[in-house]
Amino acid sequence: MSKYWNKKINDAEPYVAGEQPKAGVKVIKLNTNENPYAPSPKVAEALAQFDISDLRLYPNTDGGELVQAIADREGVKPSQVFCGNGSDEVLAICFQTFFEKEGNTDLPVLTPEFSYSFYPVYESFYDLRSKTIPLREDYRLEKTDYEGVPNCGIAIANPNAPTSRAISLEDVAYICEKNPDSVVIIDEAYAYFAEPYETAVSLLDKYPNLCVVRTTSKSYSLAGLRIGYAVASEELIEGLKRARDSFNSYPTDRLAQKVAAAAISDEEYHRQCRAKIIATRKYTEDALKEIGFTMPPSSANFVFAKPPAGVDAGLLYKSLRAKGILVRYFDKDGIRDHLRITIGTDEEMRALIEAITEEIANVQNS
Ligand SMILES: Cc1ncc(COP(=O)(O)O)c(C=O)c1O
Repeated sequence: MSKYWNKKINDAEPYVAGEQPKAGVKVIKLNTNENPYAPSPKVAEALAQFDISDLRLYPNTDGGELVQAIADREGVKPSQVFCGNGSDEVLAICFQTFFEKEGNTDLPVLTPEFSYSFYPVYESFYDLRSKTIPLREDYRLEKTDYEGVPNCGIAIANPNAPTSRAISLEDVAYICEKNPDSVVIIDEAYAYFAEPYETAVSLLDKYPNLCVVRTTSKSYSLAGLRIGYAVASEELIEGLKRARDSFNSYPTDRLAQKVAAAAISDEEYHRQCRAKIIATRKYTEDALKEIGFTMPPSSANFVFAKPPAGVDAGLLYKSLRAKGILVRYFDKDGIRDHLRITIGTDEEMRALIEAITEEIANVQNS
Protein backbone atom coordinates (compact mmCIF):
# COMPACT_ATOMS: atom_id res chain seq x y z
CA MET A 1 0.00 0.00 0.00
CA SER A 2 1.19 3.48 -0.73
CA LYS A 3 -0.47 6.86 -0.54
CA TYR A 4 1.24 7.68 -3.85
CA TRP A 5 -0.46 4.85 -5.74
CA ASN A 6 -3.95 5.11 -7.10
CA LYS A 7 -6.75 2.85 -5.87
CA LYS A 8 -6.40 0.45 -8.78
CA ILE A 9 -2.76 -0.24 -7.98
CA ASN A 10 -3.37 -0.41 -4.24
CA ASP A 11 -6.12 -2.99 -4.90
CA ALA A 12 -4.19 -4.96 -7.55
CA GLU A 13 -3.26 -8.60 -6.93
CA PRO A 14 -0.39 -9.06 -9.38
CA TYR A 15 0.55 -12.38 -10.94
CA VAL A 16 3.26 -14.27 -9.10
CA ALA A 17 5.68 -15.78 -11.62
CA GLY A 18 7.58 -19.01 -10.95
CA GLU A 19 10.84 -18.61 -9.08
CA GLN A 20 13.85 -17.46 -11.14
CA PRO A 21 17.08 -18.52 -9.41
CA LYS A 22 19.83 -15.94 -8.88
CA ALA A 23 22.50 -15.75 -11.57
CA GLY A 24 25.26 -18.29 -10.98
CA VAL A 25 23.15 -20.59 -8.76
CA LYS A 26 23.04 -24.02 -10.37
CA VAL A 27 19.63 -25.68 -10.26
CA ILE A 28 17.59 -28.05 -12.37
CA LYS A 29 14.87 -25.67 -13.43
CA LEU A 30 11.58 -27.43 -14.12
CA ASN A 31 9.19 -24.79 -12.79
CA THR A 32 8.31 -22.32 -15.57
CA ASN A 33 7.88 -24.50 -18.66
CA GLU A 34 10.92 -23.14 -20.47
CA ASN A 35 12.58 -25.18 -23.20
CA PRO A 36 15.79 -26.97 -22.11
CA TYR A 37 17.35 -26.67 -25.58
CA ALA A 38 19.08 -23.64 -27.07
CA PRO A 39 17.23 -21.67 -29.75
CA SER A 40 17.84 -22.41 -33.45
CA PRO A 41 21.40 -21.80 -34.78
CA LYS A 42 19.69 -19.33 -37.15
CA VAL A 43 19.21 -17.12 -34.09
CA ALA A 44 22.99 -16.83 -33.61
CA GLU A 45 23.36 -16.01 -37.32
CA ALA A 46 20.69 -13.32 -37.12
CA LEU A 47 22.39 -11.79 -34.08
CA ALA A 48 25.82 -11.84 -35.78
CA GLN A 49 24.40 -10.18 -38.87
CA PHE A 50 22.36 -7.59 -37.00
CA ASP A 51 23.29 -4.05 -38.04
CA ILE A 52 23.39 -2.12 -34.79
CA SER A 53 22.87 1.17 -36.58
CA ASP A 54 19.31 -0.12 -37.19
CA LEU A 55 18.67 0.50 -33.50
CA ARG A 56 18.50 4.24 -34.28
CA LEU A 57 15.16 3.64 -35.90
CA TYR A 58 11.84 2.69 -34.34
CA PRO A 59 10.71 -0.82 -35.25
CA ASN A 60 8.04 -1.68 -37.77
CA THR A 61 5.39 -3.34 -35.62
CA ASP A 62 2.83 -4.25 -38.29
CA GLY A 63 4.44 -5.01 -41.61
CA GLY A 64 7.98 -6.09 -40.69
CA GLU A 65 9.75 -9.37 -41.29
CA LEU A 66 8.51 -10.91 -38.03
CA VAL A 67 4.85 -10.39 -38.94
CA GLN A 68 5.62 -11.79 -42.40
CA ALA A 69 7.42 -14.86 -40.94
CA ILE A 70 4.47 -15.55 -38.63
CA ALA A 71 1.93 -15.04 -41.43
CA ASP A 72 3.90 -17.48 -43.64
CA ARG A 73 4.17 -20.04 -40.87
CA GLU A 74 0.49 -19.83 -39.93
CA GLY A 75 -0.83 -19.51 -43.50
CA VAL A 76 -2.66 -16.21 -42.89
CA LYS A 77 -2.38 -12.61 -44.12
CA PRO A 78 0.04 -10.26 -42.29
CA SER A 79 -3.03 -8.15 -41.44
CA GLN A 80 -4.26 -11.10 -39.33
CA VAL A 81 -1.20 -11.04 -37.07
CA PHE A 82 -0.61 -8.94 -33.95
CA CYS A 83 2.70 -9.14 -32.06
CA GLY A 84 3.41 -8.21 -28.48
CA ASN A 85 6.04 -8.35 -25.77
CA GLY A 86 5.37 -11.99 -24.90
CA SER A 87 1.96 -13.61 -25.15
CA ASP A 88 1.25 -12.30 -21.64
CA GLU A 89 1.11 -8.81 -23.10
CA VAL A 90 -0.95 -10.01 -26.07
CA LEU A 91 -3.41 -11.72 -23.70
CA ALA A 92 -3.59 -8.59 -21.53
CA ILE A 93 -4.45 -6.49 -24.58
CA CYS A 94 -7.02 -9.09 -25.71
CA PHE A 95 -8.80 -8.99 -22.33
CA GLN A 96 -8.77 -5.18 -22.46
CA THR A 97 -10.01 -5.02 -26.06
CA PHE A 98 -12.66 -7.72 -26.25
CA PHE A 99 -14.02 -8.42 -22.79
CA GLU A 100 -16.60 -5.89 -21.82
CA LYS A 101 -19.92 -5.48 -23.48
CA GLU A 102 -21.03 -1.88 -23.71
CA GLY A 103 -23.91 -1.29 -21.31
CA ASN A 104 -23.62 -4.73 -19.75
CA THR A 105 -20.75 -4.88 -17.32
CA ASP A 106 -22.42 -7.73 -15.40
CA LEU A 107 -21.55 -10.38 -17.94
CA PRO A 108 -18.58 -12.49 -16.81
CA VAL A 109 -15.51 -13.75 -18.66
CA LEU A 110 -15.58 -17.56 -18.70
CA THR A 111 -12.39 -19.49 -17.97
CA PRO A 112 -11.78 -23.08 -16.84
CA GLU A 113 -11.63 -23.51 -13.07
CA PHE A 114 -7.96 -24.47 -13.06
CA SER A 115 -6.14 -22.57 -15.74
CA TYR A 116 -3.43 -20.00 -16.37
CA SER A 117 -3.29 -17.87 -13.23
CA PHE A 118 -2.77 -14.66 -15.20
CA TYR A 119 -6.42 -14.74 -16.41
CA PRO A 120 -7.95 -13.76 -13.03
CA VAL A 121 -5.27 -11.08 -12.67
CA TYR A 122 -6.33 -9.44 -15.97
CA GLU A 123 -9.99 -9.80 -15.01
CA SER A 124 -9.58 -8.00 -11.73
CA PHE A 125 -7.20 -5.38 -13.16
CA TYR A 126 -9.67 -4.50 -15.93
CA ASP A 127 -12.68 -4.63 -13.54
CA LEU A 128 -14.23 -7.56 -15.39
CA ARG A 129 -16.56 -10.07 -13.82
CA SER A 130 -15.35 -13.60 -13.94
CA LYS A 131 -16.92 -17.03 -13.84
CA THR A 132 -14.86 -20.17 -13.65
CA ILE A 133 -16.29 -23.30 -15.23
CA PRO A 134 -15.48 -26.49 -13.30
CA LEU A 135 -13.45 -29.14 -15.06
CA ARG A 136 -14.75 -32.73 -15.11
CA GLU A 137 -13.02 -35.91 -13.96
CA ASP A 138 -9.24 -35.91 -14.26
CA TYR A 139 -9.34 -32.18 -15.19
CA ARG A 140 -11.16 -32.76 -18.49
CA LEU A 141 -12.85 -29.76 -20.11
CA GLU A 142 -16.38 -30.49 -21.35
CA LYS A 143 -17.36 -28.28 -24.29
CA THR A 144 -21.10 -28.27 -23.49
CA ASP A 145 -20.31 -26.53 -20.17
CA TYR A 146 -19.63 -23.42 -22.30
CA GLU A 147 -23.06 -23.45 -23.91
CA GLY A 148 -25.91 -21.23 -22.73
CA VAL A 149 -23.81 -19.46 -20.09
CA PRO A 150 -24.18 -15.67 -20.54
CA ASN A 151 -20.73 -14.12 -20.89
CA CYS A 152 -18.77 -11.22 -22.34
CA GLY A 153 -15.91 -13.44 -23.55
CA ILE A 154 -14.14 -16.75 -23.07
CA ALA A 155 -10.45 -17.58 -22.52
CA ILE A 156 -9.20 -21.15 -22.69
CA ALA A 157 -5.62 -22.35 -22.68
CA ASN A 158 -5.26 -25.29 -25.07
CA PRO A 159 -3.42 -27.34 -23.89
CA ASN A 160 -4.45 -26.09 -20.49
CA ALA A 161 -1.98 -25.05 -17.80
CA PRO A 162 -1.37 -26.35 -15.20
CA THR A 163 -3.43 -29.44 -16.02
CA SER A 164 -1.61 -30.23 -19.34
CA ARG A 165 -4.76 -31.54 -21.06
CA ALA A 166 -5.84 -30.47 -24.54
CA ILE A 167 -9.26 -30.22 -26.15
CA SER A 168 -9.89 -31.09 -29.80
CA LEU A 169 -10.42 -28.59 -32.60
CA GLU A 170 -14.01 -29.87 -32.81
CA ASP A 171 -14.48 -28.76 -29.19
CA VAL A 172 -12.96 -25.34 -29.95
CA ALA A 173 -15.26 -24.96 -32.96
CA TYR A 174 -18.28 -25.95 -30.84
CA ILE A 175 -17.49 -23.33 -28.19
CA CYS A 176 -17.01 -20.60 -30.86
CA GLU A 177 -20.25 -21.61 -32.55
CA LYS A 178 -22.31 -21.55 -29.33
CA ASN A 179 -20.97 -18.11 -28.36
CA PRO A 180 -21.17 -16.08 -31.58
CA ASP A 181 -21.39 -12.71 -29.80
CA SER A 182 -18.29 -13.24 -27.68
CA VAL A 183 -14.64 -13.39 -28.56
CA VAL A 184 -13.18 -16.81 -27.73
CA ILE A 185 -9.46 -16.62 -26.94
CA ILE A 186 -7.61 -19.88 -27.43
CA ASP A 187 -4.22 -19.55 -25.73
CA GLU A 188 -1.94 -21.98 -27.56
CA ALA A 189 1.28 -21.38 -25.61
CA TYR A 190 1.86 -25.18 -25.51
CA ALA A 191 0.09 -26.31 -28.70
CA TYR A 192 3.28 -27.42 -30.46
CA PHE A 193 3.85 -30.12 -27.83
CA ALA A 194 0.54 -31.86 -28.56
CA GLU A 195 0.62 -35.08 -30.54
CA PRO A 196 -0.67 -34.79 -33.20
CA TYR A 197 -0.05 -31.08 -33.58
CA GLU A 198 -3.11 -29.04 -34.47
CA THR A 199 -3.94 -25.36 -34.16
CA ALA A 200 -7.19 -23.42 -33.98
CA VAL A 201 -5.68 -21.08 -36.60
CA SER A 202 -7.19 -23.55 -39.08
CA LEU A 203 -10.68 -22.55 -37.83
CA LEU A 204 -10.27 -18.81 -38.36
CA ASP A 205 -12.04 -18.74 -41.73
CA LYS A 206 -15.17 -20.10 -40.06
CA TYR A 207 -15.19 -18.18 -36.78
CA PRO A 208 -14.74 -14.39 -36.82
CA ASN A 209 -15.02 -14.44 -33.00
CA LEU A 210 -11.95 -16.67 -32.56
CA CYS A 211 -8.61 -15.22 -31.45
CA VAL A 212 -5.64 -17.60 -31.26
CA VAL A 213 -2.75 -16.47 -29.05
CA ARG A 214 0.67 -18.08 -29.46
CA THR A 215 4.21 -17.57 -28.23
CA THR A 216 7.83 -18.13 -29.19
CA SER A 217 8.71 -18.66 -25.50
CA LYS A 218 8.13 -22.39 -25.24
CA SER A 219 8.66 -24.46 -28.38
CA TYR A 220 11.05 -21.93 -29.99
CA SER A 221 13.17 -21.64 -26.78
CA LEU A 222 12.84 -17.85 -26.70
CA ALA A 223 11.24 -17.10 -23.31
CA GLY A 224 13.92 -14.48 -22.67
CA LEU A 225 13.20 -12.61 -25.91
CA ARG A 226 9.52 -11.85 -25.21
CA ILE A 227 7.69 -12.33 -28.49
CA GLY A 228 4.09 -13.53 -28.50
CA TYR A 229 1.37 -13.01 -31.05
CA ALA A 230 -2.33 -13.25 -31.84
CA VAL A 231 -3.77 -14.60 -35.09
CA ALA A 232 -7.39 -13.70 -35.82
CA SER A 233 -9.72 -11.99 -38.28
CA GLU A 234 -8.61 -8.57 -39.53
CA GLU A 235 -11.45 -7.04 -37.52
CA LEU A 236 -10.17 -8.44 -34.20
CA ILE A 237 -6.55 -7.60 -35.03
CA GLU A 238 -7.51 -4.02 -35.84
CA GLY A 239 -9.07 -3.77 -32.35
CA LEU A 240 -5.87 -5.02 -30.72
CA LYS A 241 -3.82 -2.43 -32.63
CA ARG A 242 -6.13 0.35 -31.45
CA ALA A 243 -5.58 -0.74 -27.84
CA ARG A 244 -1.80 -1.10 -28.32
CA ASP A 245 -1.47 2.28 -30.00
CA SER A 246 -3.24 3.87 -27.06
CA PHE A 247 -0.30 3.16 -24.78
CA ASN A 248 2.79 1.94 -26.70
CA SER A 249 3.12 1.70 -30.46
CA TYR A 250 6.35 -0.31 -30.30
CA PRO A 251 6.05 -3.21 -27.83
CA THR A 252 8.43 -5.45 -29.82
CA ASP A 253 11.92 -4.17 -30.62
CA ARG A 254 13.99 -4.50 -33.80
CA LEU A 255 16.44 -7.02 -32.37
CA ALA A 256 13.71 -9.27 -30.95
CA GLN A 257 11.80 -9.15 -34.23
CA LYS A 258 14.83 -10.21 -36.22
CA VAL A 259 15.74 -13.04 -33.83
CA ALA A 260 12.18 -14.39 -33.56
CA ALA A 261 11.73 -14.27 -37.34
CA ALA A 262 14.93 -16.33 -37.74
CA ALA A 263 13.76 -18.93 -35.20
CA ILE A 264 10.30 -19.21 -36.75
CA SER A 265 11.75 -19.73 -40.21
CA ASP A 266 13.84 -22.73 -39.02
CA GLU A 267 11.10 -25.36 -39.13
CA GLU A 268 13.47 -28.32 -39.16
CA TYR A 269 15.24 -27.36 -35.92
CA HIS A 270 11.86 -26.62 -34.30
CA ARG A 271 10.58 -30.04 -35.33
CA GLN A 272 13.65 -31.77 -33.84
CA CYS A 273 13.39 -29.98 -30.47
CA ARG A 274 9.69 -30.71 -30.28
CA ALA A 275 10.31 -34.41 -30.99
CA LYS A 276 12.99 -34.59 -28.27
CA ILE A 277 10.68 -33.02 -25.69
CA ILE A 278 7.78 -35.32 -26.61
CA ALA A 279 10.08 -38.37 -26.23
CA THR A 280 11.37 -37.15 -22.84
CA ARG A 281 7.80 -36.47 -21.74
CA LYS A 282 6.95 -40.10 -22.46
CA TYR A 283 9.98 -41.27 -20.45
CA THR A 284 8.98 -38.97 -17.55
CA GLU A 285 5.33 -40.07 -17.53
CA ASP A 286 6.32 -43.75 -17.55
CA ALA A 287 8.96 -43.30 -14.84
CA LEU A 288 6.61 -41.32 -12.59
CA LYS A 289 3.81 -43.87 -13.04
CA GLU A 290 6.26 -46.60 -12.15
CA ILE A 291 6.84 -44.98 -8.74
CA GLY A 292 3.13 -44.53 -8.08
CA PHE A 293 2.29 -41.11 -9.51
CA THR A 294 -0.92 -40.48 -11.45
CA MET A 295 -1.47 -37.71 -14.01
CA PRO A 296 -3.80 -36.59 -16.77
CA PRO A 297 -2.53 -37.25 -20.33
CA SER A 298 -0.14 -34.41 -21.19
CA SER A 299 -0.17 -32.50 -24.48
CA ALA A 300 2.26 -29.89 -23.15
CA ASN A 301 5.94 -29.59 -22.20
CA PHE A 302 5.05 -30.37 -18.61
CA VAL A 303 3.19 -32.99 -16.61
CA PHE A 304 0.69 -32.41 -13.84
CA ALA A 305 1.52 -35.22 -11.48
CA LYS A 306 -0.02 -36.45 -8.24
CA PRO A 307 2.36 -38.26 -5.87
CA PRO A 308 1.42 -41.67 -4.47
CA ALA A 309 -0.73 -41.95 -1.33
CA GLY A 310 1.12 -40.88 1.79
CA VAL A 311 3.43 -38.45 -0.04
CA ASP A 312 2.50 -34.79 0.43
CA ALA A 313 2.99 -32.77 -2.79
CA GLY A 314 3.86 -29.57 -0.89
CA LEU A 315 6.52 -31.32 1.19
CA LEU A 316 7.90 -33.07 -1.87
CA TYR A 317 8.15 -29.72 -3.66
CA LYS A 318 10.15 -28.35 -0.71
CA SER A 319 12.49 -31.31 -0.47
CA LEU A 320 13.18 -31.22 -4.21
CA ARG A 321 13.90 -27.52 -3.91
CA ALA A 322 16.38 -28.24 -1.12
CA LYS A 323 18.12 -30.62 -3.54
CA GLY A 324 18.34 -27.91 -6.20
CA ILE A 325 15.41 -29.11 -8.32
CA LEU A 326 12.69 -26.53 -8.93
CA VAL A 327 9.18 -27.68 -9.86
CA ARG A 328 5.94 -25.71 -9.52
CA TYR A 329 3.52 -26.19 -6.64
CA PHE A 330 0.14 -24.42 -6.39
CA ASP A 331 -1.14 -24.28 -2.82
CA LYS A 332 -4.75 -24.04 -3.97
CA ASP A 333 -7.90 -26.09 -3.32
CA GLY A 334 -8.38 -28.80 -5.93
CA ILE A 335 -4.75 -28.87 -7.13
CA ARG A 336 -2.57 -28.70 -3.99
CA ASP A 337 -2.04 -32.46 -4.22
CA HIS A 338 -0.24 -32.11 -7.59
CA LEU A 339 3.13 -30.87 -8.87
CA ARG A 340 3.58 -29.25 -12.26
CA ILE A 341 6.85 -30.50 -13.68
CA THR A 342 8.42 -29.04 -16.83
CA ILE A 343 10.04 -31.49 -19.25
CA GLY A 344 13.78 -30.81 -19.29
CA THR A 345 16.58 -32.81 -20.89
CA ASP A 346 16.75 -36.60 -20.44
CA GLU A 347 19.55 -36.11 -17.93
CA GLU A 348 17.55 -33.58 -15.90
CA MET A 349 14.51 -35.84 -15.83
CA ARG A 350 16.60 -38.81 -14.72
CA ALA A 351 17.97 -36.68 -11.86
CA LEU A 352 14.42 -35.69 -10.95
CA ILE A 353 13.19 -39.29 -10.89
CA GLU A 354 16.18 -40.30 -8.77
CA ALA A 355 15.54 -37.48 -6.29
CA ILE A 356 11.81 -38.28 -6.08
CA THR A 357 12.49 -42.00 -5.59
CA GLU A 358 14.85 -41.14 -2.73
CA GLU A 359 12.30 -38.82 -1.12
CA ILE A 360 9.53 -41.41 -1.34
CA ALA A 361 11.80 -43.98 0.29
CA ASN A 362 12.53 -41.47 3.09
CA VAL A 363 8.79 -40.91 3.65
CA GLN A 364 8.07 -44.64 3.64
CA ASN A 365 10.90 -45.40 6.07
CA SER A 366 10.02 -42.63 8.52
C1 LIG B 1 -0.99 -20.81 -20.68
C2 LIG B 1 0.06 -19.75 -20.85
N1 LIG B 1 -0.19 -18.73 -21.66
C3 LIG B 1 0.71 -17.74 -21.85
C4 LIG B 1 1.93 -17.76 -21.21
C5 LIG B 1 2.86 -16.59 -21.37
O1 LIG B 1 3.95 -16.85 -22.17
P1 LIG B 1 4.87 -15.69 -22.73
O2 LIG B 1 4.43 -14.38 -22.12
O3 LIG B 1 6.24 -16.06 -22.35
O4 LIG B 1 4.65 -15.68 -24.21
C6 LIG B 1 2.23 -18.81 -20.35
C7 LIG B 1 3.54 -18.82 -19.64
O5 LIG B 1 3.92 -19.67 -18.91
C8 LIG B 1 1.28 -19.84 -20.16
O6 LIG B 1 1.51 -20.85 -19.31
